[in-house]
Amino acid sequence: MNRSLKVRHLFRTWRGMIAAVAILVIAVSPAFAQKKSKASGGADYQGAVNAAYAKLKDLKEGKNADYIPALAEVDPNIFGIALVTADGKVYTAGDLTSEVSIQSISKVFTMALVMEEQSPEAIANNMGVDATGQVFNSIVAVEQYKGAEMNPLVNPGAIASTSMVSGATRDAVWNSILNWYGDFAGRKLSVNQEVFKSESDTNQRNQAISMLMFAYGHIKANALQATDIYTEQCSVSVNARDLATMAATLADGGKNPVSGKQVMTAKNVPYVLAVMATAGLYDDSGKWLYHTGLPAKSGVGGGIIAVAPGKFGIAVISPPLDEAGNSVRAQKAITEIVARLHANPYAVSPS
Ligand code: DON
Repeated sequence: MNRSLKVRHLFRTWRGMIAAVAILVIAVSPAFAQKKSKASGGADYQGAVNAAYAKLKDLKEGKNADYIPALAEVDPNIFGIALVTADGKVYTAGDLTSEVSIQSISKVFTMALVMEEQSPEAIANNMGVDATGQVFNSIVAVEQYKGAEMNPLVNPGAIASTSMVSGATRDAVWNSILNWYGDFAGRKLSVNQEVFKSESDTNQRNQAISMLMFAYGHIKANALQATDIYTEQCSVSVNARDLATMAATLADGGKNPVSGKQVMTAKNVPYVLAVMATAGLYDDSGKWLYHTGLPAKSGVGGGIIAVAPGKFGIAVISPPLDEAGNSVRAQKAITEIVARLHANPYAVSPS
């Protein structure tokens, strides 16, 4: 190699190395990460999540549920936010390691399992898909229409849904439910045994509700076994990211956008979301939809999920609840994030 060739070769090698280093530096810089998150539909997801966290991290309103004694013992300061986009990107703030019991959020996924095994009509025909306007464990709501004209997200409809899951034995039904939830979360989930025991010892009202639903023909057999499995499903332990991934699976037509698994049939998802929009926050469902426009579900463990179809699933955990049994901080955080992201599907700019 003559001298000028050698210099050109060296220059090319150096140029290549410099270019590679420059690409690496840009790729790991916060500015690039920010730009990349904005690339997801043009929305600044991380900015919205951070802003809600900063605004609400010191809020101390509401009170842990205590009618299930173990829930009164949960740290009220837990506050975690996770947002998972329909293309599988994850944005978080706050506590991502603490877990709470899933409680009523489980009802969404058991309803989805029944739709998948039987049909959306099986749910509509059995307990109905209408709001009760009553608290989630209302016996008056059962009596009013003999267990019909309600929905699978209040306790009577939820226990009836659990009774509809197929399986020859209790274990078979339970494993099917737990694995199903795990597919939505993208990891194997487990039960908080302390919460399960605590609720099992104090769930006489749910046992009575299940017997009424049996008496009215909405539960075909083994009503108390259905209550027991329902109680166990409510005790499944989840963090904010698990819940957000479960919500994102509904946002992405039944496909878990993180694991890539098609968990449920896309055509059944709109039925799940419709019931969430109608009854996900119980007697406050109207107020919730009025302010966010998003189907959602709360649990007395302190979690709330919401789904922006085709865009993202979001979850917040924060145990203190309001009078209706919905996490105060989770409602405020999701409302704030939805507003910042302009994610209310009913809000459209005129063409
Ligand atoms: O059956 C119950 O009372 C609880 N396992 C679940 C209630 C619940 O989460 C209501 N949600 N806000």
